[in-house]
Amino acid sequence: MVLKNPKVTVVGAGNVGATCAQRLIEKNICDVVLIDILEGIPQGKALDLMEARPVELHDRKIKGTNNYSATKDSDVVVITAGIARKPGMSRDDLLKTNAQIVSGVTTEVVKYSPDSIIIVVSNPLDVMTHLTWLKSKFPPKRVFGMAGVLDSARMRFFIAEALNVSTDDVQAMVLGGHGDQMVPLPRFSTVSGIPITELLPPQKINEINERTKNGGIEIVNLLKTGSAYYAPASSAATMVEAIVQDRKRVFPVAAYLNGEYGLKDVFIGVPVKLGSGGIEEIIELKLAAEELEALHKSAEAVKSNTSKLFELALV
Ligand code: APR
Repeated sequence: MVLKNPKVTVVGAGNVGATCAQRLIEKNICDVVLIDILEGIPQGKALDLMEARPVELHDRKIKGTNNYSATKDSDVVVITAGIARKPGMSRDDLLKTNAQIVSGVTTEVVKYSPDSIIIVVSNPLDVMTHLTWLKSKFPPKRVFGMAGVLDSARMRFFIAEALNVSTDDVQAMVLGGHGDQMVPLPRFSTVSGIPITELLPPQKINEINERTKNGGIEIVNLLKTGSAYYAPASSAATMVEAIVQDRKRVFPVAAYLNGEYGLKDVFIGVPVKLGSGGIEEIIELKLAAEELEALHKSAEAVKSNTSKLFELALV
């Protein structure tokens, strides 16, 4: 069911959050509440975006706030609150700080929007998604993480660049955790239906796989003061659109697995169908032995990081 006047809250008015909010209103698909702990920042960015509205020609409202009461009855909540990576920092270095932030945010979100669908963007992504799920007590189809859309968008760009074709015609599939052990799947990556394994030599495909896995750190090393935000914001906004417009889009997202792919009790990137119910189906690909092995290895790394939540008594 397409939502009539969807309300979407974006938590964190920093680079990813503010850009995601901008994408959402400029897509003209929902009203947005932008919330942050910093006083003035969400209000200032929201006002600036409202002042762009007469030029951008959309009808959506955005409100900046520090108060969760303004987020009441949101249909979708995107959590981007936290600190971003600096050079030399892995996503896991962020774990403790961001877990405390995400935990507090989830409590407030659930209090005011008990029926919402939560998309987690804060890193380390798979662990923060698990934490949000545990804290929210929502069914797993209503809590998932944004990573696969971004990782596969990066891979799509690298494939398009290598073949000098339109990015429109390139699809890519990246499974696994949002870390160095993610699993790009060239066999399931195509140009207008043609697998890239028929279009590119193995060495070039390996290069693309490696660049995809290191896509986040490549940007961190260039920016030096933070991490990527344009493509992450676009990816999160596209997931919101699939939900509020009940598009039934098929994307890899960090979803809770309960036996699928032979994995249990772990959030990891797999293809799903996204619609107004959240995750409406988990799609199980028939993976080759080495692909499945790589996915399981990635899941082990995610599980080991997730267990830190319990060791550090963060849940
Ligand atoms: N509640 C709400 N907002 C918070 C909280 C909190 N408890 N704690 C921090 N924030 C806000 C910060 O004030 C800041 O405005 O989160 C925002 C984060 O913005 P940036 O520092 O610009 O970070 P950004 O690049 O947006 O990344 C946010 O997304 O991709 C991930 O790894 C990235 O975990 C990071 C997150």
